[in-house]
Amino acid sequence: MTEERYPESPSPPPSLLKGEGGTKGREDVALVRERVAAAKNVMVITGAGISAESGVPTFRDDNGLWKEFNPLDYATREAFRRDPVKVWKWYDERRVNMAQARPNPGHLALAAMARPGRRVFIVTQNVDDLHEQAGSKEVVHIHGSLWRTRCERDGTVLENRETPLTEVPPPCMCGEIMRPDIVWFGENLPWQPVEQIHHYFLEGRIDLCLVVGTEASFGYILQWALQAHEAGAMLVDVNPRDSGLGSIIDVHLRGKAGEVLPKLL
Ligand code: APR
Repeated sequence: MTEERYPESPSPPPSLLKGEGGTKGREDVALVRERVAAAKNVMVITGAGISAESGVPTFRDDNGLWKEFNPLDYATREAFRRDPVKVWKWYDERRVNMAQARPNPGHLALAAMARPGRRVFIVTQNVDDLHEQAGSKEVVHIHGSLWRTRCERDGTVLENRETPLTEVPPPCMCGEIMRPDIVWFGENLPWQPVEQIHHYFLEGRIDLCLVVGTEASFGYILQWALQAHEAGAMLVDVNPRDSGLGSIIDVHLRGKAGEVLPKLL
């Protein structure tokens, strides 16, 4: 994809962007806020960190889920085959906690960022629906949903918001047990959301890509961030820590999503 830039929103000099001897803190926020103001098309890639301030645990932080639970015991097809009740009890507890969560100022700011003349396209790794609850309209879930169950025998997919579940594991009409409709380690991403993202990139110029609250552990997250950059986007990492995006970012807004994102409006 050829690199296109809006003439009216020239990129600041690389030295300023890369932060080498460039601006820090407040100036960076001002820089990104200007970019948002001029933007017609914003891509957002979110991870567990954006839901942290809603009380939803992340995975790889010090108090993250994978520090307490071995993903091989809960988030693989083999684990589910081995002990579906154990896996479903774990997800059931996450669902009960998730049902108490509400969108935080980070989710709300992204929803408010979308307006006539400014598209905000959100790709999320999260299996909660806090972006939708906050009012965001274009949300693509690449890792599935905690609120859906799926039958591997007949392909039935059901919305199920019981907390707690009345039957563990929840049964399918065909007699098979349902699984969480969530992408587990070792599984491919569902083709529909990937197709949606592919079509989004074909639609052309992107002014800004906000990567919020993710370690960027997976290659496809890095690939999509790079594709956004190649489509003209300023690449901004919103995270209290350094993430896997490393040096490909233009600006790192070091802070919590719920504190940083409202400052960009
Ligand atoms: N605001 C912004 N970022 C935050 C906040 C916050 N309040 N709190 C934590 N973070 C950052 C952490 O610094 C970390 O970089 O969020 C990131 C969370 O990283 P992970 O726990 O690895 O979550 P994520 O990147 O979404 O994991 C991706 O891995 O296990 C799979 O399916 C799971 O979807 C998940 C995927």
